[in-house]
Amino acid sequence: MGDRVRFDYTTASAFISADEMAGIKGQALAARQTLIEGTGLGHDFLGWVNLPVAYDKEEFARIKKAAEKIRRDSEVFIAIGIGGSYLGAQAANVFLKGVFYNNQSADVRKGPEVYFCGNSISSTYLQELLDLVGDRDFSINVISKSGTTTEPAIAFRVFKEKLIQKYGREEAAKRIYATTDRARGALKTLADAEGYEEFVVPDDVGGRFSVLTAVGLLPIAVTGADIDKLMEGAAQMREVAVNADFEENDALLYAAARNILLRKGKEVEILGNYEPRLHYIGEWWKQLQGESEGKDKKGIFPAAVDLTTDLHSMGQYIQDGRRFLMETIMNIETPKQDIVMKKEESDLDGLNYLEGRTMDFANKCAMNGTLLAHTDGDVPNLRINIPALDEISLGQLFYLFEFECGVSGYILGVNPFNQPGVESYKKNMFALLGKPGYEAEHDELMKRL
Ligand code: PA5
Repeated sequence: MGDRVRFDYTTASAFISADEMAGIKGQALAARQTLIEGTGLGHDFLGWVNLPVAYDKEEFARIKKAAEKIRRDSEVFIAIGIGGSYLGAQAANVFLKGVFYNNQSADVRKGPEVYFCGNSISSTYLQELLDLVGDRDFSINVISKSGTTTEPAIAFRVFKEKLIQKYGREEAAKRIYATTDRARGALKTLADAEGYEEFVVPDDVGGRFSVLTAVGLLPIAVTGADIDKLMEGAAQMREVAVNADFEENDALLYAAARNILLRKGKEVEILGNYEPRLHYIGEWWKQLQGESEGKDKKGIFPAAVDLTTDLHSMGQYIQDGRRFLMETIMNIETPKQDIVMKKEESDLDGLNYLEGRTMDFANKCAMNGTLLAHTDGDVPNLRINIPALDEISLGQLFYLFEFECGVSGYILGVNPFNQPGVESYKKNMFALLGKPGYEAEHDELMKRL
């Protein structure tokens, strides 16, 4: 148990020796130095490192003010974005407000339902969301650093039209919040012309590291979450990551442990949780790690499971399939709610022995039992202990993962802050869509389909 988010690799001691930790220590410390001094690959994208202690206070106040307005004047809030412009806010909202937030009554929520779109090109999804909004009052936050990403741009067109139809152009403009580049891009140009309230994706913060900028903060604040506490938590973990000795440094130890395991053939890391509120943390983390490390034919492949749910689908493989797995378990130390189990007259399911025990006790027994079984099955288990489902813990968790990711990327010898591979599908999609300038590629691709 701990007072803050903590990384723990004692359960993997059979796989990681003290000598190995001592051996990789120098690389981890050097990687941290490179990050802090900004002397490594991708050093133009290190704005996230100091963000929790050096964010734009004027913009932060405007985010809170905009969120209050939206909470007053909107029954529904639509955040439009993809990848780094979507996953952090989605992860935070479910972590902090729960899986059923949108199904709660407005009195309980005291704010709008919050939905995300522009994260696929599914017409079914978008039409269903339009129908769900119906005639209700709504606002939108279009989030795109480039302003031209196809998925959010399509969704934005559709929802902008709906807003204009409902409120007229002038009023609609007061319900559109644009989070984009400070100076350039299609969305920036439109926002200036139409007078949308604007928030900035800083030049030196890449999408997958942007959850603590306006990208994440506005959709998070709209739910009533305390974004001051979120930043406070992140600042606390930054202090540890930047200043603590290796042996006390959760971010460095985590980066070291997973790289030691990678070198022993553990090429896939499964991030597991025993709490449904953490499902989207897994989705956010997959982008963070995958886009940062997966290049130059290197990198740990990031996967995620929800447990115990997936023990009934993926459990067999994890226990007994190819032995190239490591697991990192996110453990919520104190649940938001607990339920005490009762005795039943006829004990047909044989659960009466649990009378007086809590469900969380059962969940922890499942977690610890699985951890030992997987360890016995040659799957090393790392653990991240998270005190509570609150803003402080979440801020710490986001920062822990981000800093670990930067350090790990440098240990691997890649540029953790670019994403050249993401462009390949876009080129083909534009060619197939018939985008001007892609005519030659279009003909080539059509021959192959
Ligand atoms: O991490 C990244 O850079 C990407 O996931 C982007 O965030 C994503 O492609 C969205 O880009 P944009 O914000 O320019 O629309």
